Amino acid sequence: MMKTIHSYWAYIVLAVLIYTVVNAIIGLTQKKEFTHKEFRLGLFTLITSHIQLLIGLGWYFMSPWFKALKANGGEVMKESATRLLAIEHPLTMVIAIVLITMGWSKHKKKVKSEDKFKMFAVFYGIALVLVLSRIPWRNWF
Ligand code: HEM
Repeated sequence: MMKTIHSYWAYIVLAVLIYTVVNAIIGLTQKKEFTHKEFRLGLFTLITSHIQLLIGLGWYFMSPWFKALKANGGEVMKESATRLLAIEHPLTMVIAIVLITMGWSKHKKKVKSEDKFKMFAVFYGIALVLVLSRIPWRNWF
C-alpha cells in the first residue's frame, strides 16, 4: 500500500519539481516578474516533496531493504541494485528535499524577482538532478 502510494506520488513530485525549475530558469533568463503563481508553484513543490518524504520514510522502515540492511549490511552494500534501494535512493532523496526546503526559505528572504528565481533555479535545480540520478527507474517502469 505505502509502496504503491509512494510510486504514484512520485509522478506528482517529479512533474511539479521539473515545472518549477524550468519556470525559474525562464523567469531568470527572460527577466520576468516573480508573481503569486511562482510563489504557489514553489510552495506546492515543497509540500508534495515533504509528503513524499513522509511516505518514503514510512515505507522504508517497513521495507525488506531496511530489514536486509540490518540483517546483512555487507551483502546489501555489495550489490548495486540493493544498495540503491536500501541506501542511495533514501539518502539522496532526503538531501534533495533538504535543498528544496532551503531554496524555499532563502527565496522568501529575497526582495528582487531575479534573486527569488535564482534561489529556485539553483536549489530546486540541484534537487531535481539528485532526484533524477537516484530514482530506481527499472523498478518504477
Ligand atoms: C523526492 C522524493 C522521492 C521520490 C521522487 C521517490 C521516488 C521513488 C520511486 C519512483 C520509486 C520506485 C517505486 C516503484 O518501485 O514502483 C521509489 C522507491 C522507493 N523509495 Fe522513494 N522517492 C522519494 C523519496 C524517498 C524517501 C525520502 C525514502 C525513504 C527515506 C524513499 C524510500 C523508497 C524505498 C525504500 C523504495 C523502494 C520501494 C521498493 O521497491 O520496495 N523514497 N521511490
